[in-house]
This record gives sequence, C-alpha cells and structure tokens, in this order.
Amino acid sequence: MARLLLGIFVLGTTVLAAPELTCPGYTATNIQQTDSHLTADLTLPSSSCSLYGNDITNLKLIVEYQTGSLSMILTPQANITCSPLSDTRLHVLLQDAGSNIYQVQEQFLPRPISQNASAATAALHFSFKTSPFSFEVIRVSTGQVLFDTSAAPLIFESQYVRLRTKLPQDVNLYGLGEHSDDFRLATTNYTRTLWNAESPYIPRGQNLYGSHPVYFDHRGVLGTHGVFLLNSNGMDIIINQTEEAGEQYLEYNTIGGVLDFYFLAGPEPAAVSKQYAEVVGLPALPPYWSLGFHQCKYGWPSVDYVAEVVANYSAAGIPLEVVWGDIDYMDAHQDFTTDPVLYPLDRMRALVDSLHQHNQRYVMILDPGIHNQASYDPFARGAQKDVFLKAADGSHYRGNQWAGEVVWPDWLAANTQDWWTNEVATFFNPATGIDIDGLWNDMNEASNFCPDVTCLGDPPPPSLPSPSPNNTAPGTKKGLPGRNLFAPPYPIHNHRGPALSGYTLFTNITAADGTALYDTHNLYGTAMAAATRAALLARRPAKRPFVLTRSTFAGAGRVAAHWFGDNDSSWAHYRASIAQLLAFAAVHAMPMVGSDVCGFNGDTSEHLCARWATLGAFQPFYRNHADVTAASQEFYRWDVVAAAARKAMGARYRLLDYLYTALRRAGGREGRPVASPLWFWWPGDERTFGVQTQWMLGEALMVAPVVEEEGMGVDLYLPGDVWFDFWTGGRVEGGKGGEVVRLDGVGWEDIPVFVRGGTVVPMRVGGIGEMMTTEEVRGRNFTIVVAPGGDGMARGGLFLDDGESVDVGAGGQWSEIEFVWDGGLGVFEANGTFGFGTEVVVESVVVLGGGEGGVGNLTVTGPWGLGEAFGFHL
Ligand SMILES: *[C@@H]1O[C@H](CO)[C@@H](O)[C@H](O)[C@H]1NC(C)=O
Ligand SMILES: *[C@@H]1O[C@H](CO)[C@@H](O)[C@H](O)[C@H]1NC(C)=O
Ligand SMILES: *[C@@H]1O[C@H](CO)[C@@H](O)[C@H](O)[C@H]1NC(C)=O
Ligand SMILES: *[C@@H]1O[C@H](CO)[C@@H](O)[C@H](O)[C@H]1NC(C)=O
Ligand SMILES: *[C@@H]1O[C@H](CO)[C@@H](O)[C@H](O)[C@H]1NC(C)=O
Ligand SMILES: *[C@@H]1O[C@H](CO)[C@@H](O)[C@H](O)[C@H]1NC(C)=O
Ligand SMILES: *[C@@H]1O[C@H](CO)[C@@H](O)[C@H](O)[C@H]1NC(C)=O
Ligand SMILES: *[C@@H]1O[C@H](CO)[C@@H](O)[C@H](O)[C@H]1NC(C)=O
Ligand SMILES: *[C@@H]1O[C@H](CO)[C@@H](O)[C@H](O)[C@H]1NC(C)=O
Ligand SMILES: *[C@@H]1O[C@H](CO)[C@@H](O)[C@H](O)[C@H]1NC(C)=O
Repeated sequence: MARLLLGIFVLGTTVLAAPELTCPGYTATNIQQTDSHLTADLTLPSSSCSLYGNDITNLKLIVEYQTGSLSMILTPQANITCSPLSDTRLHVLLQDAGSNIYQVQEQFLPRPISQNASAATAALHFSFKTSPFSFEVIRVSTGQVLFDTSAAPLIFESQYVRLRTKLPQDVNLYGLGEHSDDFRLATTNYTRTLWNAESPYIPRGQNLYGSHPVYFDHRGVLGTHGVFLLNSNGMDIIINQTEEAGEQYLEYNTIGGVLDFYFLAGPEPAAVSKQYAEVVGLPALPPYWSLGFHQCKYGWPSVDYVAEVVANYSAAGIPLEVVWGDIDYMDAHQDFTTDPVLYPLDRMRALVDSLHQHNQRYVMILDPGIHNQASYDPFARGAQKDVFLKAADGSHYRGNQWAGEVVWPDWLAANTQDWWTNEVATFFNPATGIDIDGLWNDMNEASNFCPDVTCLGDPPPPSLPSPSPNNTAPGTKKGLPGRNLFAPPYPIHNHRGPALSGYTLFTNITAADGTALYDTHNLYGTAMAAATRAALLARRPAKRPFVLTRSTFAGAGRVAAHWFGDNDSSWAHYRASIAQLLAFAAVHAMPMVGSDVCGFNGDTSEHLCARWATLGAFQPFYRNHADVTAASQEFYRWDVVAAAARKAMGARYRLLDYLYTALRRAGGREGRPVASPLWFWWPGDERTFGVQTQWMLGEALMVAPVVEEEGMGVDLYLPGDVWFDFWTGGRVEGGKGGEVVRLDGVGWEDIPVFVRGGTVVPMRVGGIGEMMTTEEVRGRNFTIVVAPGGDGMARGGLFLDDGESVDVGAGGQWSEIEFVWDGGLGVFEANGTFGFGTEVVVESVVVLGGGEGGVGNLTVTGPWGLGEAFGFHL
C-alpha cells in the first residue's frame, strides 16, 4: 500500500509543476445582484484542467453581505471605540451547481443567519473579474485589497480544489491550527496540513489533533481581518512566495468540499475574534470549579495510590481541585468499566465521595474505540442499536485501540446519542456508579493503532482502491459519488500517512447519513465531544457540563475545552504552549485551553516543572499530566516545585473571578479573547507582531515567564503604557514604553506578571494556603485593585453567578459590575447589574501608585456589599 501511494505522490508532484499551463479557470455569467446578494454561474471552458480528478464544470457563486453588528472594543487607553455601523461579515460561497459536493452538516456547524445587510454600508467590498474568474475583497475604509484570487486560476475538481490569494510582503498571519509552530506563521515555503491526527510529541511543521481553517491577517494600523474557510476536508494550506517575482501568497489545496469563505472585517484584532466566534459559535462558559488546579497521570497504579496523591497534595498545602482518571481505571481498557483489582468500583465510589466531601472533583476519560466483544455490554447494546461504523461488506468496521480490537461509534447514526447518553447515565449513575463531575474525550481523531487492516490478521487490502460507495442523492450536499475515497490523487502532507487513513479510520467508510469519513474525518472528535456534552446534560440538566477533548474542529469551543495533546517535557514545548494558547484563545475561539503542565512525554526536571507550574497558573485550563513511561511529577515531589505551585496558585485563586469574568466575556456579548497577544492591544506597534512568549490574560495582566532553558532571567517587551508589578504593586521602572526590559534573578517560584495601567482587577482576599478549593475562593471577600493609566483613569469588570448553572444567569441570578476610577476627580464607582445574591463584600479598593507622591498604594476601606451600586469620592 505504501508503495502504491508513493507512486501517486511522485506523479502528483510532476503534474503540479505547471498547472497554470493546463488550467484555464472559470467564466462568470448570469450575474444577479441585489443590495445584499450577488450570484453568478461559473463555467469551465471546453479545455479542462483534470489535475487531480474530474473538473466540476458548473459552479455557483453566492456572495452575501451578512451582518451589521456594532463592535465595541475597549482600547488600551480605556476609551470605548465604536467602529462605524458597518457590515463586517462577507460570505462568499463557491459550490457545485448541483449541490452534490459535501458541505459540513449544520449539526456540526450551524450556519450564521444572514441579516441581509446592504452592500452600500459594508466594511468589505466584493469585486470580481468574469474571465478567467477571480475575486477581490477590499476594505472600503482604506481601499486595501485583503484577498485577491487572481494569483492563479481557480481549480475546482471532484477531489482537488485550489485557490490562491495574493498577500502583501512579510504578511502577519496567525491561526490555521492546531500546530506547534510559531504563532506568527512563516511566510515562505510553509505548509499547514489540516488533518486531525494523533501526534505524539506534537512535532513542528505537522498536522496535529485539530483543524481550524481560519487565519487572522494583521496589517498594523491599517487594521486586522479574518478569513475562515468553512471546509472540513483534508487540506494543505501553503504560504510562500513565487520563485520569479517573490510575490507573497497563501494557497488552499483541499481534497474536497466547497469554498465557503467568511471574511471578517475587524478592524480591531479583538473585533475579528468576536466576528469569528459569531460564525462558528460562542465558546461555552466552563464551570467555575474547572478553573481550579487539575492533576492527572497515566499510570497511577491503583485507586489507593490516587487517594495517596490527594492526601499528599493536602499535606503539602497545595490546592488540588480536580483529580483525573486516565485509562488505568478501566478493566482491560474498556470504557464504562473499572479494573476489579486495582480500581474496584466500591473503592472508586469511596474516593469520589471523599473528594466531593472536600469540595474536590473527579473527571474520567472515555475513548471512542469500543471493545469488539459480544460479552461486553456497551458493545452489545451499541450493536443492537446499530450505532457503529460499517465496513464495505456491512459488518462493523474494526481497528485496534487500547481495548484491543475495537469498533467506533458513528455519531451520525440515529441511535448513537441515545446509546451514548444511556452508557454515561448508567456507568456514572451517582447512586450505583461513579459520580463524575466531567468527562475527557481522548483518542478521538480517531486514533487507530492499526496503520492499516493488516494488524487484525485480515488479508491485505487489494492493490487498487475500491470505488467509492453509491452514497449520494443529488442536491443533498453529502458528497460527490465516484471519488477515490481511500487514496485521493492529491496527497496532503499527513504526517501519519502517507495514506489519509494511516493510524485512523478508513476514509472510505460511509456514515449513516450517507456522508463519507473522507469528508467528515476532521469533525469526528468534535462530534464525540458534542455527544458527550449532550450526555452530561441529560444526566444533570441543570449543571454546566465540563468536557475536555483532544481532537477539535472550528467551533469546538461551543462544546468543549481542549489541551494541547501529548507534548514533551521540554523547554521547547513549554514555550510552544504559549503560542498554542494564543492561537486557540485569540484566533480559534477556544478559550478554555492549556498544555499538559510539566510536559507529558519523558521525565520532567525540577526546574522545568517549577517554571511550568507558574506558567500554567496563568493559562485558562491548568492541568499537570504525564505519561505512563514518565516519572511522577505531582507538584509536591520537589520542594522548589511545591513552593512555585503554592505561590502561583495563591495568585491564580485570588484572580479566579477576574479569569471567570474574562471567560464570560469571551463567551458572552463581548467576544474578547481570554488570552491575547500583545498586538491585539498595540496593533500599531510592529515590535509586538512576533511576540509569542508573553500574553495578556484578560484585559489587565501581562504575563512574561522566563523562557530560557534553566534560565533565571527574561527579556520582555513592554509596549507604550503604564505598568505595575503585579506582585509588589510598584510602578515598573523603564516602563516608558517600547522597550525590551531585562529582568534577572527571577526565582524558580516566580513568574513576572504586570498590570496594565488603565485597568481594574477584582481579587479575592486571601493568603497562600488559605484557599485550597474554588469553593473556599467563592466564600472570600474582594479587594478591588485599581491600576490607573497615564491619564489617571481605570476601568474593569466583575461577573458573578453561581458558577455552575447551565443557563448562565437564569432568572437574573447574575451580576455584571463595571468599575470606573477617575484619578483626576478622585472618584470610584461600581455600577451595573446586580442579580446575584452574595454575602461576600468588597473589603477595600487599592489604587496602585496612589500613595503620597505617587509612591505606594492608596487604600480605601469599605466594606461595600455586592448587591447594589457603590462608590466613593475622595
Ligand atoms: C480617548 O483617547 C483620546 C485619544 O487617544 C484621548 O485624547 C482621550 O483623552 C481619551 N479619553 C479618555 C476618556 O480616556
Ligand atoms: C435574507 O434574504 C434571504 C434571501 O432573500 C431570505 O431567505 C432570508 O429570510 C433573509 N433574511 C433575513 C434575516 O431577512
Ligand atoms: C521547503 O521546505 C521543505 C520541507 O520543510 C524543505 O525540504 C525544502 O528544502 C524547502 N525548500 C526551500 C526552497 O526552502
Ligand atoms: C515555495 O516556493 C519555492 C520556490 O520559490 C519552492 O521551491 C518551494 O517548494 C515552495 N514551497 C512550498 C511548500 O510550496
Ligand atoms: C505520599 O507521601 C508519602 C510521604 O512522603 C510518600 O511516602 C508516598 O510515596 C507519597 N505517595 C504518593 C502517591 O505520592
Ligand atoms: C476502503 O478501501 C479499502 C482499501 O481498498 C478496502 O479494503 C475497504 O474495503 C474499503 N472500505 C469501504 C467501506 O469501502
Ligand atoms: C445508486 O443510487 C441510485 C440512486 O439512488 C440507484 O438508482 C442505483 O441503483 C444505485 N446503484 C447501486 C450500484 O447501488
Ligand atoms: C499594593 O497593593 C498591591 C495589590 O493589592 C499589593 O500586592 C502590594 O503589596 C501593595 N503594596 C504595598 C506597598 O502595600
Ligand atoms: C468579609 O467581610 C465581612 C465584613 O467586613 C466580614 O464580616 C467577613 O468576616 C469577611 N469574610 C471573610 C471570609 O473574611
Ligand atoms: C447606577 O446606574 C444606574 C443606571 O444607569 C443609575 O440610575 C444609578 O444612579 C447609578 N448608581 C450610582 C451609584 O452611580
């Protein structure tokens, strides 16, 4: 099989050499235009291209001016800017005239509703040439061309679609995840392959677990825009320069689907985040408790050992909120079972009871590979309900996973959700089973340990790929018939390949709705996470679910949190976790993310783990996790690491409501990312464009960890603003702006964090070790820390609710408070919506630099209740 594919690959590169010579492009006719729509027919002249399959001779172009949302963005100067009431979303769809080509099912990505805005008020303008067809997207306010497909003729074939856009030189592009490359993407000779794959050690330059075909293009003071290609097929996105003229371009090479583009006008970077979230869905607000610290390890040998870990955290005075069960708990690695000897059910129940009594939580893993054994009940019930994917002969499609020979759920089959919901309800029944607080979906790319069918002892596959199934009815967008769904002629650069199906499920499998995994592969993990979320909701309808998923597609933030997979215990991956955080939180609309703290594969070191303990404390999802082959790395195992964890968590827990408020805003009306790169805040400052080891957490805090291997210092960039040291409250010297500052002597338990002038940060009152759980955090009073900007002003917010209701703010049980400080007038005001009843009060307001002669703090003591507006006038 490998040899055959190699042959195709070589053929492919040969043909690729000069496609322009043979591909004439399309001609647009029958152009219809209304104020908000434009449609046209595209046809291919008689000479065709046939590069990687059959040309689609008749295409339909549909252009819609979709929205007119008013974007309100808080600038660093604490100014409210309202971008002009303009239509910020332009939808451009190029599909086959017959609507047979696969389009992502609405259930996976519900399409945004077009408000039929007027072209006349649009921020982005669409224009096109009829022959050969190409289009441009232009920012009306500046006249800049943002997207220009005249760079090469459009190729639209049954198994290959190519579209190239010209870009400015040295363009600043971000996104196109999931990857472990630089946050600012390379501009030459760079291939981003989107094909979800289990990817141990998260190799650079390769496709990893998730596919997010969206990039942000940042052009400094000229504005930022986003380009989302709603296409789930495998693809190579190439960013490069032409050999002759050195012209910059980005080129989509997808092996199927349609060209379904959403252009997002910004122009502020955070506005693009919001506009993108409006297309793929606002991220779910996680439960408050999930912001606590999580500990996991693959290889904890028994339930008693886990209890010892919990006790040792407690003895070490390190907060532990959530304990995780990796596959060790299972009987023979089967979902919905417990190991009768090492993790017997009664001992598991006792562990979870004890955790709950101490206001701690338990989350368990579920893999999609279901043991193919008649005596295994979840399999038998699933088989009976016909929920598993099928092979060509109608039998269950089989592969190899943790449990041995397995089958996989077809999330599109009629009974699958019921079956999954029932298995979850039964096994996690609080009365008889394990009363979990959340679920973790792993291996859901889906990973198959079998690179092909040979490991099951079946005969090797025939040397020629079988024809695709007769799975489509016309006009249903379920996939063109007659394609080679196993070995497509254009080979994407899948690092688990060369075959598409390498180490995953066969792409020629047809799901119950008639679509093929060839088209839906990249949605499998998100489908599982969505089904798991639904199962948790069915189990506890009023409680906000917590699902962690490894595999993602655009919009997965609606249903799940994500960690960056099986990284390595290396300084390189410690650094990479920051770029990954920025990509997911700021670009991919997935805020609840983080890396395996201290590293998953390989043994960590004391110093790396100490640094990572502090870094992770300032990322949204904070979990220490290691592989079975790695040495234990619970924070209490080294004094230095324990001290670092205690100090970092002390700060994190004081800031938990600040973080929760930022997540609420990311998921709510505002759409501002919970974590963002410096250029989101200083979009005109070129020196911020490549920064990928510092980040803004919310609107006020800048985190700048030591990133040098075994280093004690950090070179950090302080953009032009007023800064305060988070730890001392002191004004940061040299913070006149635009300077790289060297900080030395950063101890192993320290992490440099700065408060941006112009902000207000609500913090709980409590010393290190006084808040061991989020429940304890919630009982603490607040102090409101004011960091005035250069103009003496500051503002910030606080969102309060019960932290766990599904329907956030149901019945008005929530508060959203805005704080405003005017240093010139000496006035502090807290006002907003007050629906959440709480005994907790604001003990004091602390103005940094507000003391005598601008040195030290000004502290004004309350208390003030949180049930109504309050304030003071000095
Ligand atoms: C808003 O920004 C402008 C220009 O940056 C500045 O002159 C003005 O003082 C700011 N207003 C407030 C309320 O901060
Ligand atoms: C927008 O126009 C389309 C096509 O004319 C129509 O189907 C749709 O209902 C309109 N949407 C709104 C929100 O008016
Ligand atoms: C492009 O990248 C590939 C793979 O990373 C490398 O083998 C090749 O030499 C590079 N080519 C150029 C022109 O830089
Ligand atoms: C980028 O372009 C160069 C020629 O300028 C070419 O050698 C290289 O293969 C291209 N890289 C990719 C990934 O297409
Ligand atoms: C817990 O701490 C005790 C005492 O230091 C130690 O002997 C034991 O190995 C630890 N167990 C675990 C699971 O960390
Ligand atoms: C997929 O293709 C492989 C290789 O040709 C073949 O063995 C298998 O039966 C096909 N499966 C389906 C569902 O068509
Ligand atoms: C393929 O589907 C068409 C339309 O449903 C049907 O008429 C035809 O018999 C099918 N062919 C095969 C080989 O199943
Ligand atoms: C000023 O307030 C900050 C924030 O509460 C605190 O960290 C710092 O210790 C205070 N500084 C002094 C000198 O009291
Ligand atoms: C919060 O402040 C109130 C009023 O000052 C006080 O009675 C209460 O004990 C404080 N709560 C905590 C947990 O310190
Ligand atoms: C809070 O806002 C409301 C509504 O704008 C206003 O009526 C009220 O006076 C404000 N309260 C204070 C204390 O500023």
